[in-house]
Amino acid sequence: MKEILDRLESRRQEARLGGGLKRIEAQHAKGKLTARERLELLLDHGSFEEFDMFVEHRCVDFGMDKQPRPPGDGVVTGWGTVNGRKVFVFAKDFTVLGGSLSETHAQKVGKIQELALRMRAPIIGLYDSGGARIQEGVASLAGYADIFKRNVTASGVIPQISVIMGPCAGGDVYSPAMTDFIFMVRDTSYMYVTGPDVVKTVTNEIVTHEELGGASVHTTKSSISDGAFDNDVEALLQIRRLIDFLPANNQEGAPEWPSADDPLRRDMSLDTLVPDNANQPYDMKELILKVVDEGDFFEISEKHAGNIITGFGRIEGRTVGVVANQPMVLAGVLDSDASRKAARFVRFCDAFEIPIVTFVDVPGFLPGTAQEYGGLIKHGAKLLFAYSQCTVPLVTCITRKAFGGAYDVMASKHIGGDVNYAWPTAQIAVMGAKGAVEIIFRGQTPEEIEKRTREYEERFLSPFVAAERGYIDEVIMPHSTRPRIARALAMLRTKKVEQPWRKHDNMPL
Ligand code: HXC
Repeated sequence: MKEILDRLESRRQEARLGGGLKRIEAQHAKGKLTARERLELLLDHGSFEEFDMFVEHRCVDFGMDKQPRPPGDGVVTGWGTVNGRKVFVFAKDFTVLGGSLSETHAQKVGKIQELALRMRAPIIGLYDSGGARIQEGVASLAGYADIFKRNVTASGVIPQISVIMGPCAGGDVYSPAMTDFIFMVRDTSYMYVTGPDVVKTVTNEIVTHEELGGASVHTTKSSISDGAFDNDVEALLQIRRLIDFLPANNQEGAPEWPSADDPLRRDMSLDTLVPDNANQPYDMKELILKVVDEGDFFEISEKHAGNIITGFGRIEGRTVGVVANQPMVLAGVLDSDASRKAARFVRFCDAFEIPIVTFVDVPGFLPGTAQEYGGLIKHGAKLLFAYSQCTVPLVTCITRKAFGGAYDVMASKHIGGDVNYAWPTAQIAVMGAKGAVEIIFRGQTPEEIEKRTREYEERFLSPFVAAERGYIDEVIMPHSTRPRIARALAMLRTKKVEQPWRKHDNMPL
């Protein structure tokens, strides 16, 4: 008996070594942890239950039958807990054939995807892979397609999170692209469909891995990645933090944690947040941090389209999604990038029953040929569509400008806002005073224009015209924003909205 037990232990030891000590050292030398080390950090200590440790590939082509078959086949899979909550995980093991995806490797990932969906628990994939196992050809392509299909089935049912911690090339990129969030590790991770060599052959461009698909590119230019972290350890700890904000599935509701922060806490400093000069920016993040519990805010896509802020916070211990125009960047204008970024976030929140708090200070949509040629109409419509479609509680607070179509779009009463507040500094109008007067009183003397501008400002640039019509439910003191939002969210907990039957909508993609 002892011998049998020893044999199991020695097979386990061998599997835990993945591609062997030399390759583990090479992995460490690149500043990366191994798949198992990563899972240790991601999951609660001792909670990892591994599956399929002894699975081996079945490939016999290109001399693969002559080489040792590494147990586990380049991916470590299983489940564990994050702060006591169940999650399913897979981590590509770059030390085994570059973490490349074979038929059996794909089956291991698929098994975990199916379990996660059946158990209605989040799934987290850690990527570090050279793409399709070149020796396996079409079997590898089939394996990818099976994974993609499962991603789509699970979309909107359980949170799916991808963390890119090394190469993520070829077929490996499309599964993350269909998950809810992608995070990267700076300097050690890169994502692209085709690598620098192919790029050079096809387009004659010479680029490095980093220039083509590093975290700096995907968190800013392409917006493929929702955030980047300095190293593996920080990335994994931040993913644990994110998991704490997310529901396990689309029916469980936003998680609640004990909070020591009084929901009725007032913050007098907010009374002076908005500057006297309407053209002077202020930091909307200050408002967000002062409103959410303990100033704890997990920002999504911080480095892309900074004119809109998206992220998760908590009120009375319960997760809320926050969307806010940022006057510090492009005066908080809505452009194509900001609209797309916020639309995707709003849809995530709605799919997973996370209430949304929207802070508005928006001078309108960004004018210009670059925006119009780039499809601003369709991109702006995405955000309009996403908010209009929401059945989750929507609480909106206008702090300053809410001009034109952008007023309608930013969770206005008209498209489904449940509780719409405005600060006394709010200016809700079709456009800014100067622009409006120059159109209505074209050709008048500068003195007349100035007089009319003042008249327009007094009449329209306030929250009261909208409040008189019931478009704003209440004009509130800035210092009482947190208590008012907390009370509104508490009232909205029983919100129920029925949508007419349809197969699915046809949002302006
Ligand atoms: C089999 C692979 C592999 C792959 C790497 N390896 N990629 N084995 N299939 N796709 C192996 C290497 O042979 C090597 O084995 C070990 O992994 C480490 O690789 P290195 O090249 O030494 O590492 P590094 O220098 O860090 O370079 C990493 C890399 C490079 C940039 C990812 O390995 C690379 O370019 N790989 C190929 C990428 C690729 O073209 N993939 C196919 C994409 S096509 P040893 O034994 O030496 O340790 C695709 C289409 C699918 O995915 C589409 C589906 C929709």
